[in-house]
Amino acid sequence: MIVCVCNNVSERKIRQAVDSGITRMSELRDELEVGTCCGKCHSCAKRVLRECLAEA
Ligand code: FES
Repeated sequence: MIVCVCNNVSERKIRQAVDSGITRMSELRDELEVGTCCGKCHSCAKRVLRECLAEA
């Protein structure tokens, strides 16, 4: 599933980022540029990040 359409960031990419040690939205933004364009994906990206961290 694509989370951030503007920057083509999938749920899978977020999962991989969490596996590599990312725990915060700011880190995710720096790494994948999630939410840096229109910003509409912010809440969805946050939810996916939370889910990934809960599973980790
Ligand atoms: Fe993520 Fe636009 S959908 S910045």
